[in-house]
Amino acid sequence: MRTAMAFTLRSLTPLGIFCMVPLLSRCESTAQLDAHSEDDAGGEGGAQEGGSTGGDDGDSETETPTSPVEGEFPVAAVAGPAPTPPMGWNSWNKLGCGRISASRVREAADAMVDSGMREAGYQFINIDDCWSTEERTEEGLLATDSKKFPDGIRVVADYVHEKGLKIGIYSDRGNTTCARRMASRGNEVLDAKTFADWGIDYLKYDNCDYVSDDSNGHNLDEDLMRTEFGLMSEALKESGRDIVYSVCAWRFYEWAVPLGSLWRTTNDITDEWSSIGPIIEKNGVELAAYAGPNQWNDPDMLEVGNGGMTSEEYRTHFGMWAMMSAPLIAGNDLSQMDQETIDILTNKEVIAVDQDLLAVQGVRVKKEGTTSVWVKPLGEFGARAVALLNQGNDVQDISFTLRDANLTGSSAKVRDLWRKSSLDDMKSDFTARVAPHSMLMLKLVGHEPELPSGNVQLSAMDWVYAANANGPVEKNQANGSNAADDGDRISLDGTEYETGLGVAPGSLLMYRLGKKCDRFRADAGVDDQVGDSGSVAFQVIGDDKVLYQSDVVTGADAPLELNVDVTGIYRLKLRVTNGMDGNLKDIASWANARLRCED
Ligand code: GLA
Repeated sequence: MRTAMAFTLRSLTPLGIFCMVPLLSRCESTAQLDAHSEDDAGGEGGAQEGGSTGGDDGDSETETPTSPVEGEFPVAAVAGPAPTPPMGWNSWNKLGCGRISASRVREAADAMVDSGMREAGYQFINIDDCWSTEERTEEGLLATDSKKFPDGIRVVADYVHEKGLKIGIYSDRGNTTCARRMASRGNEVLDAKTFADWGIDYLKYDNCDYVSDDSNGHNLDEDLMRTEFGLMSEALKESGRDIVYSVCAWRFYEWAVPLGSLWRTTNDITDEWSSIGPIIEKNGVELAAYAGPNQWNDPDMLEVGNGGMTSEEYRTHFGMWAMMSAPLIAGNDLSQMDQETIDILTNKEVIAVDQDLLAVQGVRVKKEGTTSVWVKPLGEFGARAVALLNQGNDVQDISFTLRDANLTGSSAKVRDLWRKSSLDDMKSDFTARVAPHSMLMLKLVGHEPELPSGNVQLSAMDWVYAANANGPVEKNQANGSNAADDGDRISLDGTEYETGLGVAPGSLLMYRLGKKCDRFRADAGVDDQVGDSGSVAFQVIGDDKVLYQSDVVTGADAPLELNVDVTGIYRLKLRVTNGMDGNLKDIASWANARLRCED
């Protein structure tokens, strides 16, 4: 049934520019409703002014076009503790310190199963702060608060495991946790062993280190933080159990990447729309390049269902977390969910975007005022998730092109993931009218860039993916600032280059090689544009295996002469990080970057 709030769709031009609008506005035309394809969910979902998601759960996935090159882009799960972003629930956002208890944790586990969340992929039941007391036991172990957890943690862990779920717990690198319970400083090995004995599968490790009993200030000395988060990372590895390590240092530090499977990039989320935008800006724009299998940016737990935002805002929050390959850790009361909350949290097509095995974080490819377009390539051949995001307070038309999605050819299949309905194929561009605080989330299946042939410069190829901390990656010039085409000629240690790629680390590029190439060569270094300052590190990755990792190089160093064997590689990733020095504003160049491939 179509409601007044649902969208209609029509083609505006023979070129296939679409207009997606609330019924009763200017694009309304019942004659053109059949622009929806046969598996349309019926128009209930994705209503941007208070409608509910459609009930079309068992709907078919987008068909992949038959293609002779299908299979040249296979993806598989990588080994490790978190090959895809962890999914689960955490007690903090809803229960805080006061209401956490064994019975509420069991309730959450029951509800995760009964609501269909487990089936949708959620795994972890995570106990946050306040499960412990202020003292250690006589044996020096962390002591469980017996009022809240009368039978201890292991019993709760067993209960959660029997439900086919995993259990997480919380501690802190300092003397006390943020709620001033006993924490792990100086006892990292012992506490990791205790967690392993209890059957813990996930540790969130917090950053509170109060400078005094009566101050809320913390000692945030970076060397100390790095050392202490590192101690627990090592202790967990030695604990004898696979435990996902969630570093919660409240902002991104490059040194957290090798320590944890995920790391918090921002301050605590709150249950209001104004909290969402700044998190997206920080986590989504500057840091995308750091994400990958077993290494995820964590923009904090979800607030979906907690009551402080509209359903539409919650859909946007959840959808953007999926676009950003964020851990999906629900933070609401799972035992009291209305259907709309369940529908958001269990939308399998949106979750599939988050959990996609290609494992790259979506990037913003376009921004105009308060609207933006985000693209995340998916493992399925030719597939991209595309988000049209309206963070403003007015309805906006938002457009993108196949080129924005790094697709070639002249058309792509389109599916609306919130409404779970397929739309007409798009031609070169697509326009939708998007309500305030809302998003349209699409899956496209189109045509991947051509495979390389012969001896080819990367700057002459189309990438599948490009994440860059500042503006677009530049072809045949240094990165410059955040505008396109604003760099100087590529120059490394006084030598100028006609060709290459200019990047602002963190940067991650991905190209399809389709097993056709055997050599990647480049001169790589900090570009002369930033003089001798700057320090970066280069990584060449083939099908999720690191083929080459440089040491940190500075602007004073001679360029690295890379010559990497890429035989048998389907997809090549080139990552540049910031050299661990806390300066996230470096400029680097892959000069004369080229491939040797079959003709
Ligand atoms: C910090 C963390 C939160 C939560 C609380 C618990 O603020 O960032 O996510 O764990 O501590 O006290």
